Amino acid sequence: MNIFVLGSGAREHSICWALKKSKNCKKLFSSPGNAGIKKIAVCENIDLKKKSKVLHFCRKQSIDLVVIGPEEFLADGLSDYLIKNGIRTFGPTKKAAKLETSKSFAKSFLKKNGIYTPSYKEFNSFNNALNFLKKTHFPVVIKADGLAAGKGVIICENVNDASRAITDIMKKKIFGSAGEKIIIEEFINGFEISYFAFVDKKTFLPLGYALDHKRAYDNDKGPNTGGMGCFTPSRLMTNNLEKKIIKNIVEKTVNGLRKESFTYRGILFFGLMIKNQEPYVIEYNVRFGDPECQTLLRNLDNDFLELLLSTTNDELSKTKISTKKKSVVCVVLASKGYPGSYKTGKDINNLNKVENLEGIEVFHAGTKSDASIVKSNGGRVLSITATGKDLNLARSKAYKAIKTIEWEDGFYRNDIGIKNI
Ligand code: AMP
Ligand code: GLY
Repeated sequence: MNIFVLGSGAREHSICWALKKSKNCKKLFSSPGNAGIKKIAVCENIDLKKKSKVLHFCRKQSIDLVVIGPEEFLADGLSDYLIKNGIRTFGPTKKAAKLETSKSFAKSFLKKNGIYTPSYKEFNSFNNALNFLKKTHFPVVIKADGLAAGKGVIICENVNDASRAITDIMKKKIFGSAGEKIIIEEFINGFEISYFAFVDKKTFLPLGYALDHKRAYDNDKGPNTGGMGCFTPSRLMTNNLEKKIIKNIVEKTVNGLRKESFTYRGILFFGLMIKNQEPYVIEYNVRFGDPECQTLLRNLDNDFLELLLSTTNDELSKTKISTKKKSVVCVVLASKGYPGSYKTGKDINNLNKVENLEGIEVFHAGTKSDASIVKSNGGRVLSITATGKDLNLARSKAYKAIKTIEWEDGFYRNDIGIKNI
């Protein structure tokens, strides 16, 4: 089969890596790709915002399966367009993608389907939001309704912080039109899990979960990022809790999608807060997480291509997930300054030494290669993943590997995999 993977993150590198292992993967293409993806797939520079160009490429290369990594293309209806034109595509339709692209839509969907989620109010007017804040209990979580590149959520401890946040979002429009509407949500004090399930037209298949580290620095300090590291499994996940997640959250969500007649063939990411053993949905994402994807694919024993095809062919009911039963730790190496401004074009050395270490896979994100020299080319640059028979072993392998890499401009968190969660 000829497969085309859209995106350029470490998530997409791990997707290509997993697909490449399948005996049925004949030719692998990616756009735009990165220095790591380039080693295992043909990278093409296509204007992915122009749907007809994507279709033209698929026809020219006889693509049998398109895998859409980032949400922006799903939000734009690329999946609908390709499917309408006869191209098999992994990733939900534009309507279903609203679960991620509109927090207000997601909240009313959750409420309508009786799924636990923090209580909330929705505002279009600055004055109404301010009046509400003057009377409410703190902390609260303020969320811009639309896509804001993972930055649209602000946790506020008091009325002053909260009024600053709504001024920034609604008056200064720091997130543009994404902040025309806001959600003010109850703060849940618990632990956070990213849970994943494949979804097809008929059913769903749980893939697993990972614990992300969103803040830039150790001990959850610093600004929110796309994710600085992950681990799986959790010390706090019990059979009972996982059963609750599947029955009260995943199943109800998939039934809700069916009721609305939304076409969803892809992976669904449930952002959960667990409080007193009760899971609450704090967000939906309609794609794999990054770095959750890199983490989960290291532990997967299935043929990944077969799993994606089961999803696009509505055959998940015949499929089972099989894992290597390993612990996995993923540490992200980022450019100093990320998630703010940072330099690019700096040499990264010793990658070949790391790639040969036992239990290690390095997935590239913001990298490019000049001759054989790899250079930084983005905020998050590498994901170093390690497997082991327990978390401590996986963690020590990951940090040994990261210390071998020479890159004067990089930084990483030192505490991935040690939280008691
Ligand atoms: P999101 O972009 O929706 O993932 O939110 C960013 C981060 O804010 C999440 O990863 C959580 O750590 C935190 N967060 C969001 N909603 C809540 C909530 N209702 N209670 C506590 N923390 C939250
Ligand atoms: N790591 C969180 C996300 O991909 O949204």
